Amino acid sequence: MKIPASVSDYRTMARQRLPRQLFDYIDGGSYAEWTLAENTNAFERLTLRQRVLKDVSDIQFNKNILGQEFKLPIALAPVGLAGSFANRGEVQAVKVANDLGIPFCLSTVSICAMEEVADAATQPFWYQLYMLRDKQVAANLLKRAKAVGCETLILTVDLPFPGARYRDTRNGLSGKQNLTTKLKRIVDFVSHPRWLWDVAITGKPLVFGNLVQEVANAKSLDDIQGWISEQFDPTITWQDLKWVRDQWPGKLILKGIMDTDDAKLAVAHHVDAIIVSNHGGRQLDSVPATLNAIADIKAVAGDNCEVLVDSGIRSGLDVVKAMAMGADFTLIGRPWVYALAANGGEGLKHMLELMQDEMRIAMALTGHSRIADLGQHIFAANQLPQHEGQ
Ligand SMILES: Cc1cc2nc3c(=O)[nH]c(=O)nc-3n(C[C@H](O)[C@H](O)[C@H](O)COP(=O)(O)O)c2cc1C
Repeated sequence: MKIPASVSDYRTMARQRLPRQLFDYIDGGSYAEWTLAENTNAFERLTLRQRVLKDVSDIQFNKNILGQEFKLPIALAPVGLAGSFANRGEVQAVKVANDLGIPFCLSTVSICAMEEVADAATQPFWYQLYMLRDKQVAANLLKRAKAVGCETLILTVDLPFPGARYRDTRNGLSGKQNLTTKLKRIVDFVSHPRWLWDVAITGKPLVFGNLVQEVANAKSLDDIQGWISEQFDPTITWQDLKWVRDQWPGKLILKGIMDTDDAKLAVAHHVDAIIVSNHGGRQLDSVPATLNAIADIKAVAGDNCEVLVDSGIRSGLDVVKAMAMGADFTLIGRPWVYALAANGGEGLKHMLELMQDEMRIAMALTGHSRIADLGQHIFAANQLPQHEGQ
């Protein structure tokens, strides 16, 4: 691989560097991976009006969300196990996010504990919670997140059960393992020496950092993995939001909203923001691309609930399209972990700079210097998705 020029190049590098089971865990989706593909296809299909001869010498990328200004409208989405893709992955990522002035969100199931991430951070980061059956553990996690300075909580609500991801089953990463799959996994690890050195040897401890102190007898990832799969709480309903609110005085974002009826309920429950997300095509296959859900959801969210979007964003051009469609902010999942896996913090920083350059061209040649001026007028007229009521 020569010098990477795009997210897609970083994906290729990550594929070479990571054990197959970890690359597939990142790259894959649920069932036939139709939604996974549709998320990116929707961005590719949407064409733009090219406009010229406007003064675009001073393009600004800064954007406010939840009362705070960031240098780019791109957040690093919560991604579990990031510290198993690169040495202390979450710590490397938070440093880059802080340097570039963008939000970083730490997953419940991160490798690095929130305290370790906080020690490396210079800005408050966002924390993501999966609602757990054991409310005491959930309450402890929120207490710790507050104590390390987190002010924004993302509550992920699209995972009552983990999605069926065939690649993970085939690789022995989920489901039953037999001796053959166990051996294959070990061979897969040892045949990737750069990863082995960077993560398995020098990147320890490889445990779920936030959970290890909450789970008795949790010495390894496998010990806690079993506990986690029993802990995802499928009984959670809108009533439980009150419990979360009581524990969390800061900003609350609901992640995993795809339907206008759910968006209306979120507004009625006074959440500060919602994330239009299908979990990057990793949960319910056959749901539409998030790009095509933004406009309707934004229309019902009103002024008191901001709308973020993720799933399928692979370039700065896609960020511009999402913002023009009506999103207040975007998040990226796979792109940041591909770059991190490929070349650590340096790779991640470079990938984000590439995305900013792509945004610059997209804004310049649609004739805009400010994010706030983007709107659906940048799309070719016959390209917009049909909205409710049309
Ligand atoms: C490997 C991987 C792990 C993820 N882990 C989490 C997680 O722990 N919590 C969560 O809310 N979302 C998780 N997500 C979903 C992301 O936050 C995000 O919604 C998704 O990746 C966006 O789609 P994209 O990858 O196409 O950008 C994960 C996604 C990936 C790819």
